[in-house]
Amino acid sequence: MKLRISSEHQRHIGIIGNHIVHTMSPAMHTAALKKLNLDYDYGVMDVTPDMLPNLIASIRTLNFRGVNVTVPYKEKVMPLIDEISEEARMIGAVNTIVNNNGRLTGHNTDAHGVYVSLSQFTEEIKNSNVVIFGAGGAARAAIYAVAKFFLPKRIVIANRTVKNAEVIANEFADKFRSTKFVCTSDHTTTAREMETASLLINTTSVGMTPFEERHMLPPHSVIQSNQIVLDIVYNPIETALLKIARQAGARTVSGIEMLLGQGAKAFELFTDNEFPINDAREVLMKELMQFHGYTT
Ligand code: ATR
Repeated sequence: MKLRISSEHQRHIGIIGNHIVHTMSPAMHTAALKKLNLDYDYGVMDVTPDMLPNLIASIRTLNFRGVNVTVPYKEKVMPLIDEISEEARMIGAVNTIVNNNGRLTGHNTDAHGVYVSLSQFTEEIKNSNVVIFGAGGAARAAIYAVAKFFLPKRIVIANRTVKNAEVIANEFADKFRSTKFVCTSDHTTTAREMETASLLINTTSVGMTPFEERHMLPPHSVIQSNQIVLDIVYNPIETALLKIARQAGARTVSGIEMLLGQGAKAFELFTDNEFPINDAREVLMKELMQFHGYTT
């Protein structure tokens, strides 16, 4: 990363990950900083795992206000920082680090991203059944957000490796006692559970460019018009899952809303300013259109 010191007061923000050339975070945050005329820059730090400890140490001493953290470091940064918010600890992952005079605090804003993406459906999700595909870090944030903010009756974690789902279910069952957690890797069971669900969330990377025709729906499963479907994949803007859901008449929520929601909370932690979400959304849409070869 090139650190461009363009003014005495300018501070740095950035994103840490590995193989993140296509990350949309810089475009979104830079647009927001520019809109509010804030004197920060936002850089990409694409580092290998052996570089991570030194990079985190340099955030304390260089003129950094904080960083976003993405794959594959959301768990690996946890032992390298000073403090972890209760939410990040419960989720088991940090996606935002704030530097207060050399003291680093880790937060998880992904759960907030899921919350804002679905907040218009609070009443429908309350006391209902939810099916979540996947059992990785994104699933943990989504399950935490759904259980904590929407109070569903039942969360089904449908995952290829049922053991990974069970680890999450066991942990969260203790924390969210009014929700029943069920795990399955079986397609027929998943399809049956989908029949009574109000909400389906894909938390896996299945369907992401360049494998845009893929989706997580089991054979013979049906999406109904009264259901809500969120896909955390944001590239393409409309995934195969969302297309099937839209054609079935369901209400769909794009991963862009989750990306914006988690970005908004991180931006507020970094700058104490409200995130100009509509400007950021416009820039993201343009970037994604350009990525897919549409001229704007
Ligand atoms: P993240 O931490 O970013 O969520 P991850 O740890 O790789 O990413 O988790 C991805 C989740 O998507 C996992 O639950 C994974 O299933 P396994 O637990 O069986 O590994 C699931 N996943 C990823 N690719 C998949 C695929 N092609 N088919 C089914 N599930 C997949």
